[in-house]
Amino acid sequence: MLRLAIQKSGRLSEDSLNLIRECGISFVSSSLKLKTESTNFPLEILYLRDDDIPGYVADGVADIGIVGENVLVEEGKQSLTVEKLGFSKCRLSLAVPKTMEYNSIQDLNGKNIATSYPNLLKAYLQEQGVEADIHTISGSVEIAPSIGLAEAICDIVSSGSTLISNGLKEVERVFKSEAALIANEELSEEKREILEKLLFRIHAVQRARKKKYILLNAPNESLDEIRSLLPSIKSPTILPLAEDGWSSLHSVVNEDDFWEIIEKIKAAGAQGILVIPIEKMII
Ligand code: PRP
Ligand code: ZN
Repeated sequence: MLRLAIQKSGRLSEDSLNLIRECGISFVSSSLKLKTESTNFPLEILYLRDDDIPGYVADGVADIGIVGENVLVEEGKQSLTVEKLGFSKCRLSLAVPKTMEYNSIQDLNGKNIATSYPNLLKAYLQEQGVEADIHTISGSVEIAPSIGLAEAICDIVSSGSTLISNGLKEVERVFKSEAALIANEELSEEKREILEKLLFRIHAVQRARKKKYILLNAPNESLDEIRSLLPSIKSPTILPLAEDGWSSLHSVVNEDDFWEIIEKIKAAGAQGILVIPIEKMII
């Protein structure tokens, strides 16, 4: 049995649970419970405060965890990282009241800055040659300027709506973060094997997220040109259509180059193009 720690409630919770579900791992989740066991995979899920996750994984209370790099680096535990997961992207930023005139980071010299990330902030200010007073608070950082606790804040920004609703503007980006999978450094052989299985599934899900399955019809004389425009896993599947001189072609394309490819293959004579999401991709 492998114990996975995820954030109980917050920016990473939903995405973390979705990833586990997309890996075909079933469990009953309840907001009241602090742990659940999967019904079809040797995994137990612990719901914890994100800030506690690196410590618990380092100590072996949990075997693995999903946590933001912001928390990981702040706590100096980046060595636990197994891999980045590509979701829950955010940034740690400095923000000031939107009425404050701000020209450069030097404007923060001698100011009070409230944050839950004193280590990351300290390193950044040092690098920038700025001397400021760091006030460490554990939550509700964004209200610090309006209650007179600090002149600036350094906090996580994702959509930016928390800043806006508190009358703040983002002025510097300190650190970029996304979710990461972390693991205890001394997992038993048995736990390591379960982790390998989980990683195999995570990779299949991640690969599939970036790809689309594409089907199209084309006159046979355009097939060579269309094939050259479509990168595929090995080579595309080509099937004859009932109508003479026409074929159906199936392939996989990258989400990122998708629109560009579609335009080119249409120009080359492709018709009836279908694009389908891929659930899992094992290569
Ligand atoms: C961060 C930050 C803000 C919010 C910003 O909290 O403290 O409250 O996210 O998001 P927005 O830009 O989309 O409005 P986080 O999720 O890290 O939770 P925590 O501080 O309770 O750990
Ligand atoms: Zn937190």
